[in-house]
Amino acid sequence: MEIHSSSFVISNTDWNKCPTENRLEYAFIGRSNVGKSSLINMLTNNKKLAKTSGKPGKTQLINHFLIDNHWFLVDLPGYGYAQVSKSLRRSFGKIITEYITNRKNLVNLFVLIDSRHDAQKIDLEFMRWLGEKGIPFSIVFTKSDKLKLGQLNANIMKYKNTLTQEWDVLPEIFITSAESKKGKEEISEFIEKYNTEYQEHFVGKAK
Ligand code: GTP
Ligand code: MG
Repeated sequence: MEIHSSSFVISNTDWNKCPTENRLEYAFIGRSNVGKSSLINMLTNNKKLAKTSGKPGKTQLINHFLIDNHWFLVDLPGYGYAQVSKSLRRSFGKIITEYITNRKNLVNLFVLIDSRHDAQKIDLEFMRWLGEKGIPFSIVFTKSDKLKLGQLNANIMKYKNTLTQEWDVLPEIFITSAESKKGKEEISEFIEKYNTEYQEHFVGKAK
């Protein structure tokens, strides 16, 4: 699946004010600076769509993007950014958790993990919470261009081993790079599959 059009719709702090839940949507989440916004731009072939930054904490709102006039991609604020104040960190957390637990048209959450690092407590805890809440998610390893292939494979293997200690079945895993566009097809196909599968529930409402 190739994305032909993408446009910014609206930013919100409140899930209640997000666009009407009559189109399927897929959201991107993970630690600040992990590459959420860059990945959205890579998938949409639109470098200017989501705002990216070398400094963590760039995305602070729930951002909806309309894709091919049909479904939404959602860029979420990063979690676990230590440099913002505690109260701000709490409010980020509230924005995210309320969005995730309430949004009825959310098909899948892509949890982004920097492929260079060892498993971090905050990501493992977050995924545990998703499991408890029954929220469907997949794991997306980012910035794979920053590692040699051998190191990348070793890191992913190690991560999977860590997950296996806690999960009987691992979620779908994608290895990506916003630079080299690695993983673009795999994620696009995954989304397309769900768009097709769930389409009938939304037929007649989406246009
Ligand atoms: P917040 O909005 O602050 O939570 O960050 P984010 O997760 O949206 O990260 P963003 O996409 O803004 O990227 C953070 C930094 O990482 C930027 O400097 C990007 O250019 C860089 N970056 C993101 N993805 C990749 C990648 O695949 N490869 C490389 N080399 N750099 C990347
Ligand atoms: Mg961002």
